Amino acid sequence: MTDTALAATGLRKSFGDTVALDGLDLAVPKGAFFGLLGPNGAGKSTFMSLVTGFQDADDGQLLLFGEVLDPADTAQKLRIGFAPQHIALYKELSAEANLVLFGRLYGLSGRGLSKRVDAVLETARLTDRRGDRVKTFSGGMMRRLNIAAALLHEPELLLCDEPTVGVDPQSRNAIFETLLELKARGMTVIYSTHYMEEAERLCDRVAIIDHGRILAEGDIDGLLDGLPAVNAVRVRGSELEEATVAALSQFGEVTAGERVHTLAPGEGFRLSRFHAWAEGEGLEPRDVIVERPTLEHLFLQLTGRELRE
Ligand SMILES: Nc1ncnc2c1ncn2[C@@H]1O[C@H](COP(=O)(O)OP(=O)(O)O)[C@@H](O)[C@H]1O
Ligand SMILES: [Mg+2]
Repeated sequence: MTDTALAATGLRKSFGDTVALDGLDLAVPKGAFFGLLGPNGAGKSTFMSLVTGFQDADDGQLLLFGEVLDPADTAQKLRIGFAPQHIALYKELSAEANLVLFGRLYGLSGRGLSKRVDAVLETARLTDRRGDRVKTFSGGMMRRLNIAAALLHEPELLLCDEPTVGVDPQSRNAIFETLLELKARGMTVIYSTHYMEEAERLCDRVAIIDHGRILAEGDIDGLLDGLPAVNAVRVRGSELEEATVAALSQFGEVTAGERVHTLAPGEGFRLSRFHAWAEGEGLEPRDVIVERPTLEHLFLQLTGRELRE
C-alpha cells in the first residue's frame, strides 16, 4: 500500500516553443487537500490535463495510488474525478439531465445512477434547482454543478481547476462548503487557484508552481516558517508626532500613508521590543496592526513578482 495518491516525477510538456511543464515533481498524500498555486500560465491546467489523460506528457512519469498511470486504463480513470477550468455543461438541459448524461458516460444507470445524482446535487447544494435549465444558473451554480458532475462515479481523487474564478462572494462560499465537505470525508483533492488566501483557508498542503516548475511545497505553516515572523507593522493615526515617526524608523523602513505609517521590519526586528516601545510612546494597541506573512509574501519572495498580475 502506498500513502501517496498521486506522484509526478520529471513531468515535461511543451506546446511548440512554450514550455508548460519543465520537469515537475510532486507528491500528493492520500486524503490531502492539496493546493496547486500559481499565476496564469504557470502550468496548473496542463498538469491536470496530463493526470486526466486529455494530453500526453513529453517526458516524466505519473503514479496513481502507486501504479503507473495509463490513460487507456478504465479502472484507473474511474478513480479520478475532474472539474475542468472551462465549464462543460449543456446549458439547454436541466441540472439533473446534465448529471444523468455524465453519469451514463461513467457507466452508471438505473437506480444506482439516480441515487448518485441525488447525492451529488445535495453535495453541490443544488437539490432545489435540479429541474431548472443550466442557462438560468449563476456562474457559481454552474461551477458547483461542474464539480457535482465530477463526483458522480465516487472518485478517490478529485481534481478541481480554479473553481472560484469569476464567481461572486456568496457562491464562492457555497463552493467552499462543498469542498470542505469533501475534505471532511477524506477525499484527496487537488485544487488549483491563484488566490493564495483561498488556499490558506482550504488546503493542508500546497505547492507553488511557476513556469512549469515547483518552487516550494509543503504544509502552509511550515512554508511560512521560512519567512520573517512579521511582514509589516502598521501604525494608525493621522497625527503622529514627528518624534514618534522618527523613532519608528529605528525598527526598519517607514512609509507614510494617509492615515497610517507602515514599517517594514529591519534586521534583528523583535516584536516584543517594538510593543514595549509603542506602549512607552502611548500608542493605542488597536492602532498597532501586526501583519503576519502569508503565502502571497512567500510567492513574492520566491519569484520577485506579485501573484496577480
Ligand atoms: N493547448 C495549448 N497550446 C499552446 N499553448 C498552450 C496550450 N495549453 C497551454 N499552453 C501554454 O502553456 C502554458 C501553461 O498553461 P496552463 O497550464 O494553462 O497554465 P495555468 O493553468 O497555470 O494558467 C501557458 O504559457 C499556456 O499559454
Ligand atoms: Mg489554468
